[in-house]
Amino acid sequence: MASGGTLLFIFTALCVTAVKSVECKTKNVGHYGQQSLLECVVKTSTDAPDPTIRTVAWKKLTSPEDEGDLVLGFNRGKWDRPKRGYRFADPSWDKKNMNVSLLITNTAVADDGDYECIVITDSGDDNVVTTLKVQARYSVPTVHSIPEKIVPNTDSTLICESHGGYPKGTLRWFDEEKYEWTRSSEMEATQSDDGLFQLTSRLLFLQGSTFQKYTCAVFNASGSKEDEIIFEMPAPPRLTPPSEPIEICKIVVRLVVIGSLMVGLLCVLLFCRWKAQREYSFLVSLI
Ligand SMILES: *[C@@H]1O[C@H](CO)[C@@H](O)[C@H](O)[C@H]1NC(C)=O
Ligand SMILES: *[C@@H]1O[C@H](CO)[C@@H](O)[C@H](O)[C@H]1NC(C)=O
Repeated sequence: MASGGTLLFIFTALCVTAVKSVECKTKNVGHYGQQSLLECVVKTSTDAPDPTIRTVAWKKLTSPEDEGDLVLGFNRGKWDRPKRGYRFADPSWDKKNMNVSLLITNTAVADDGDYECIVITDSGDDNVVTTLKVQARYSVPTVHSIPEKIVPNTDSTLICESHGGYPKGTLRWFDEEKYEWTRSSEMEATQSDDGLFQLTSRLLFLQGSTFQKYTCAVFNASGSKEDEIIFEMPAPPRLTPPSEPIEICKIVVRLVVIGSLMVGLLCVLLFCRWKAQREYSFLVSLI
């Protein structure tokens, strides 16, 4: 019986030390190009009120079963090949600090995913998986038409573009009466080298469009509208000739008026001079 009691004691002791002692926020949101925090703390218990941390390893997992890629490691007083841009959230972190949160200084799309935090203390160890969801805001959409100058009663296409967002969002079309036209459009999403999405949507009009204005709106992955733009269909070319001849007429009239004024002025000047000379010679002849 005594040995059974001892075994039970050892078993209980193992359970206590192996008890879940690291707690992480399960969902962390990071913004592209900014700092992201993966919050984890080591919980102290009455059995281990003042633990000392021997090892911390933060790993980025590519799949749930994989070994992971070490991004930040501390092992028996030494830093273990920390990757650039990853550090403890607390800059003055030491083995007595139970806040082992990871700070990613410049969040990239590649940082999106699961992380494992492994902690070994002098009174037990634990490992927890936590997730970082990276988000990037889409740019204000731009719209242009093909052809640029729309000819009435012919086919035309409106093209809407928005870029720099993550995860994959959607572009949707509405007319002036808020009726949705997205089903008549086709959207394409491409990913650039930095992982951000470029969205392009084409709205085709057969035999011309019905409305004068269309709205293209960009929605993020959770379905919230991020931005929109209203596109006014280019007016069809006017049949009456543009106002250029009128402008030319105005210029001609102005030239004629100025010209005749100058000629008139010259005549007056010449006449005055001629008269002055005549008066002078008359005076001379008098003397
Ligand atoms: C851990 O430290 C970071 C940086 O100082 C802080 O933002 C965070 O709130 C801390 N977490 C806890 C649970 O104390
Ligand atoms: C979408 O936008 C809403 C509102 O701005 C925001 O709360 C949410 O986190 C965003 N979701 C994604 C996946 O970007």
